[in-house]
Amino acid sequence: MTPSPAPLRHAEAAVAVVGGGQLGSALSRALREAGVRVDGPLGRGEDAASVDVVLLCVPDSEIAAAVRAHARDGRQIGHTSGATEVAQSGADFGLHPLQTFLGGEGLEAFDGIGCAIAGRTPAALATARRLASALGAIPFEIADDARPAYHAAASIASNYLVTLQAAAEQIAAGAGLSRGDARALLAPLVRSTVENWAAHGPASALTGPIARGDEATVARQRAAVAGHAAELLPLFDVLADRTRVLAATRETAP
Ligand SMILES: NC(=O)c1ccc[n+]([C@@H]2O[C@H](COP(=O)([O-])OP(=O)(O)OC[C@H]3O[C@@H](n4cnc5c(N)ncnc54)[C@H](OP(=O)(O)O)[C@@H]3O)[C@@H](O)[C@H]2O)c1
Repeated sequence: MTPSPAPLRHAEAAVAVVGGGQLGSALSRALREAGVRVDGPLGRGEDAASVDVVLLCVPDSEIAAAVRAHARDGRQIGHTSGATEVAQSGADFGLHPLQTFLGGEGLEAFDGIGCAIAGRTPAALATARRLASALGAIPFEIADDARPAYHAAASIASNYLVTLQAAAEQIAAGAGLSRGDARALLAPLVRSTVENWAAHGPASALTGPIARGDEATVARQRAAVAGHAAELLPLFDVLADRTRVLAATRETAP
């Protein structure tokens, strides 16, 4: 069993956070709440104080330039990108919190979440592990060649879920619901669905007409989508097809 890393403590360690966007704001606040001495979030052209660790919360395309700007002897630089390979990035380690941040969050948003870590050296990997643990996250290693699949899964689970809910809002307009009302009414359904999926897996969580084999209802839904939001028909069709495949796994399960 891997021993728990020693926690980062104020005065023991100082971290500079570069990039004051959605993640950089939340991460700076969270690290401070965890008792870590933090410099930042720093913007473009701002120099980090005399710190041993710099965490880049900048867009992927800016990582190489930010590494060059902040590299110092004896300093470890980490990036927080899910997609960027550590070996190609110039950074020493990667630390990708598997969570979605809008910027106003603090330490609570990191509690118990997964945090993908990688390091060029054992020391850099240990730094990533210590930082993740200081945040209350659960570190797990991701190899560079696994990153595209890892990040695609994260995007489907989070980003595309939002796209899906936007489509549901749009179609709900066909039932006379405003976007705000649709969100308020659909949100409990989304939450329960996600909880059921997390607790029981996709096949058991699936309910609805396709799970019941009720293709007549699916056809009526499709006609309504065609009438109110025709541009969403390809999305509706591909989702219905994948849902049929999922439903079939329930039927064939022993
Ligand atoms: N948001 C999330 O939920 C989330 C979750 C996990 C991981 N991440 C990772 O976090 C990183 C940042 O994403 P984000 O969502 O926080 O992006 P964001 O909201 O767009 O923020 C990026 C910030 O970086 C600044 N910046 C750009 N280039 C810089 C440079 N060379 N030096 C200093 N600051 C610079 C930007 O400032 P300007 O306005 O001046 O361009 C902006 O404030 C990405 O690698 C992303 O994969 C994000």
